[in-house]
Amino acid sequence: MNSKEIIEKQTKYVIPSTTEGRWPVVIVEGKGAIVKDLDGKEYIDCHAGYAAVNVGHCHPRIVKAIQETAAKIWHVSWDFYTVSTALLAEKIVEITPKKLSKVLFCSVGAEAVENAIKFAKKYQVKKNGRPGAQIVSLMGAFHGRTAYAMSLTGKNKYKDGLSTYVHLGVVHAFPPYCYRCPFKLEYPECDIHCAKYLEDLIYLQTTGDIAAFICEPIFGEGGIIVPPKEYIPEAVKIFREHGALFIDDEVQTGFGRTGKLFGIEWYNVEPDIMTLAKGIASGVPIAAVVTTEEVASVMGPIDHCSTYGGNEVMCAAALENIKVLLEEKLHEKALEIGKIFTEGLNELMEKHKLIGDVRGKGLMIGIELVKDREKKTPAPEEANKVRLEAQKRGLLINVGGMYGNVLRIQPPLLITEEQAKKALEILDNSLEAA
Ligand SMILES: Cc1ncc(COP(=O)(O)O)c(C=O)c1O
Repeated sequence: MNSKEIIEKQTKYVIPSTTEGRWPVVIVEGKGAIVKDLDGKEYIDCHAGYAAVNVGHCHPRIVKAIQETAAKIWHVSWDFYTVSTALLAEKIVEITPKKLSKVLFCSVGAEAVENAIKFAKKYQVKKNGRPGAQIVSLMGAFHGRTAYAMSLTGKNKYKDGLSTYVHLGVVHAFPPYCYRCPFKLEYPECDIHCAKYLEDLIYLQTTGDIAAFICEPIFGEGGIIVPPKEYIPEAVKIFREHGALFIDDEVQTGFGRTGKLFGIEWYNVEPDIMTLAKGIASGVPIAAVVTTEEVASVMGPIDHCSTYGGNEVMCAAALENIKVLLEEKLHEKALEIGKIFTEGLNELMEKHKLIGDVRGKGLMIGIELVKDREKKTPAPEEANKVRLEAQKRGLLINVGGMYGNVLRIQPPLLITEEQAKKALEILDNSLEAA
């Protein structure tokens, strides 16, 4: 079957069609940071399956772990003990912040977020004797597509036609988005007003009964927004004074993506609950919630269950994935190659007026495109054009941002210097063409 036939079939049968405004490319193979389509064309993959494939495509050690485990046992259930599930939980506790010591497994990021909310609310009821009616999230943040996760997501576009599906107990605060400061202030003279105003938000916009504050250490889908270093510690301090827990959504920032093992390591604060997915197994569907002994204690044996959560094949893949990540120090590599990207992109910024801002950490890099640097008018059509021009030239990138105008550079962490330089050259030509 050729590409055209596959694309026709997928368009006809899969909901929703992936082809509109997308790339007519059928990917069939991947190795490291390179993927190949059905016609044999190769691409440098700076998209990495929505920033999931951290240790690269088809890493031989992970392939082996999957094959060996699948040949022995595929799936059991929460009613029995399994080897990789136990070993993976131990490994996750070892590498996440000290306070966190218990793991709950599930399948995707949104499910991890749902479970984090379940923990926070149950904790408030059982330990503090209050319902924990509200959750504070940030405008522009992304937390997934299931009911609660989507409610936390701070963008209306995702909620169209779903006003009776979203939870109304979510309060969205202004984001720490320095390039477009909602308060029109400048860092550091602003004295992180975006964090300090949260006192007012709690007082004026909530009932005071907040179960948790949730945020990403660096916004992913929201446009690679890096909060100032004081923001998260200050925000968490304020919410803790009001009895709320801190949920650190590491679905996208986890497992080396930002140059540290977890994004929260850039800030001096420990979460009460952490959500993990994507890089936990580099694209194999497994997710987790990690929390403290105290929070975990609110969930009894029959309070939660999931058919596939902690599936043995997925756990074996995740365990090997983490070992590869640690042994090959891929988070450190992400910092090195990330520097090459940001230096190259800052040079491109001098040449291309379309680039308004370059930001990020490690291999989580955003290029915000604007029609006019002074007015900062978002350029979403141009961003889409750059994406398509890059693809034609052999580079896959994603587009995100609150206004759909941020190019996202998030390759596997083992991308080589040569591949990074080639990607920059393609970006230069694609920006020119757009
Ligand atoms: C920060 C964050 N949380 C949650 C999710 C949802 O993950 P999933 O798509 O696996 O449900 C995403 C997905 O992009 C994410 O970036």
